[in-house]
Amino acid sequence: MDKIVIHGGRRLEGSVRISGSKNAALPILFSALLTEGVNTYSNVPRLRDIDSTLLLLSRLGVRVDAGGSSIRIDAGGLACHEAPYDLVRKMRASVLALGPLVARLKRARVSLPGGCAIGARPINLHLKGLAALGAEIALEHGYVTASARRLRGAEIYFDIVTVTGTENILMAAALAEGTTVLRNAAREPEVVALADVLNRMGADITGAGTPEITIRGVDTLRPVSAEIIPDRIETGTFLVAAALTAGCVTITHCEPQHVGATLDKLREAGARIDVQDQSLTITGPERIASVDIKTQPYPGFATDMQAQFMVLMSVADGVSVISESIFENRFIHVSELRRLGADIRVSGNTATVRGVPRLSGAPVMATDLRASACLVLAGLVADNTTEVHRVYHLDRGYESLEDKFAALGAAIRRVK
Ligand code: EPU
Repeated sequence: MDKIVIHGGRRLEGSVRISGSKNAALPILFSALLTEGVNTYSNVPRLRDIDSTLLLLSRLGVRVDAGGSSIRIDAGGLACHEAPYDLVRKMRASVLALGPLVARLKRARVSLPGGCAIGARPINLHLKGLAALGAEIALEHGYVTASARRLRGAEIYFDIVTVTGTENILMAAALAEGTTVLRNAAREPEVVALADVLNRMGADITGAGTPEITIRGVDTLRPVSAEIIPDRIETGTFLVAAALTAGCVTITHCEPQHVGATLDKLREAGARIDVQDQSLTITGPERIASVDIKTQPYPGFATDMQAQFMVLMSVADGVSVISESIFENRFIHVSELRRLGADIRVSGNTATVRGVPRLSGAPVMATDLRASACLVLAGLVADNTTEVHRVYHLDRGYESLEDKFAALGAAIRRVK
């Protein structure tokens, strides 16, 4: 199995190009199921989660042509309505097939994703939304079956803000009869990107990016050509890396507006940041100031940036309190960071991080995607050598991470 080996202590310098967003690409690729004809997507990141999505789409009878960052998807031949366990267990976002399949084929059978390392992650709100649109829902043998002759518009309130839940219902409601209103909808840029693509397909969606989204159902949707927005979590990860190493890095092909909360916290920690149109230049401080964070739905501080920020706080001056309010088990990186010498105490959903002068390199184990990124960041500042094992988590969501860091001057390599 691959591992990443890092010799810490180098300042990062230079420029890095941000890839397309994983979490925007996934629902958009699934939205191709709503059309007959060829959809073309550009700036798609090359990741394991994208490969898993394309594999699932081809199992459904969809034609997929992938070359580099461009992908063509023709769902004209969509024949199968089932997302099987062997694919869903590899990528829980496969649940995004549910809404489009029931809207287009009138029925869907999708394996329940189950929990994952960071939490139980139920899909009850996806199912509540589909039921409100008139789908009959049954759970048996580990699968959810949804069926409806034609979905009907409805008013749906989400008890908890859910990103993929909002996306699933957006896709289903786009082809429903009548008007759907989503309340307490997710406002994440990935939801807005999906709504933009659906509107270009001929859907009638207003309010995306606010807590109330209105979808006036249409009879058919047409294929589109769309460019995937930049990955805001990859952007944030490189920002933290630069701050951590007292480096100076220009981050290009990004969307500064999508990383407002991260920029704010990095400035509070002492970083200097210049914002340009589609790029950011960050200069890290010599001493990092401690800052408290609380994860929240967008536009709050992203849970997907919590682990990376914790590394920064591990070597800051003073004490930082980090509260995780989205997932119940998203501190699994803490025990690995402690092995590198970090002083972190966890009580419930709060971690208290006392900055230490330095981390010391050691072998560590990645447990989920963002935890892996945090361990790589820790390796960039730790003394001597850090080996990050179980790198397959990283490959789910970061395109060429070690190459990008190496180009910025880090001593990092992948060992096969
Ligand atoms: N929740 C429910 N019921 C539901 C749906 C969600 O109780 O039916 C709860 C979850 O258990 C969680 C909270 O609501 O406590 C928010 O979960 P959400 O549904 O928003 O998460 P998600 O849609 O499954 C997406 C991203 C995650 C990211 C979260 C939060 C994708 C494919 N995944 O997950 O990304 O952490 O939103 O922002 O968009 C990652 O990229 O590493 C990642 C985990």
